[in-house]
Amino acid sequence: MIEQNIGNEILQLKKEKDVAILAHYYVDGEVQEIADYVGDSYYLAEKATRITQENILFCGVAFMGESAKILNPQKKVYMADDSADCPMAHMADIEKIREVRREYNDVAVVCYVNSTTEIKAESDVCVTSSNALKIVRALPNKYIYLIPDYNLAHYISKQVPEKKFIFNDGFCHVHKSIHGTDIRMAKQIHPAALVLAHPECTEDVLELADFIGSTSQIIDFVKQSNCSAFIICTEIGVFFELMQRNPAKKFYSVGHQQFCPNMKKVRIEKVLNKLKIDNCETSSQS
Ligand code: 13P
Ligand code: SF4
Repeated sequence: MIEQNIGNEILQLKKEKDVAILAHYYVDGEVQEIADYVGDSYYLAEKATRITQENILFCGVAFMGESAKILNPQKKVYMADDSADCPMAHMADIEKIREVRREYNDVAVVCYVNSTTEIKAESDVCVTSSNALKIVRALPNKYIYLIPDYNLAHYISKQVPEKKFIFNDGFCHVHKSIHGTDIRMAKQIHPAALVLAHPECTEDVLELADFIGSTSQIIDFVKQSNCSAFIICTEIGVFFELMQRNPAKKFYSVGHQQFCPNMKKVRIEKVLNKLKIDNCETSSQS
């Protein structure tokens, strides 16, 4: 629960300064509570193109704010925490992209939205975890170089056998920390629970999953499911929305590392402080 004074001050400042607050499901629940819009990477990037406020305050990691800025060059985009960055966003190499292009004539460089602006600029198309499969399937190219995430690329490659994939070795340390053995143990304790996983998880986890999808897709799946218990294989922040929307359902985590330290840098006090700074001048995205 947000402390009432902080909540009221944020509401007043964002109105005064014509700011829309966008938050990812992985940030703290109290930040999600004061945000105007909460969603997955796809939803937030799309929403950023339709908001009427002049300024966006992004509660998430750098690539999310950068995406909002690329799609809205006329708007000011500020980060609640300027140091919140996704390590995987840096795990592709521009020289390697150029080398792959030289080697394979008919290659599409598909970049996951979790990547830096420089990597995006070298790519042919940008996808998120919620639309990667649809977009890769529709590409005319025979070869696909999906960067930076190996696990997402591998998951998509299994479903598009008609295309040849060149793999990169990027990964998300949060999803990689979830193991098949953790899920088997959780299943022993909660045998009726369905396993829901993000495609950034490794193959041994995805093989045990009843459903694989982006954070929004996991949340939507739970809402329409008749099942009453779920083992959640993604960052712990999604539990806030899952529990709000489904008070009668039970959610279980696996292991103790489902925690993105960069997303957790975005604290409610930082949201307030950023709104207090005139023109949010320290932002790196403006
Ligand atoms: P979504 O695209 O599901 O929002 O995931 C973003 C992310 O950072 C996953 O680790
Ligand atoms: Fe990056 Fe993983 Fe954190 Fe998502 S959960 S922002 S992919 S480090």
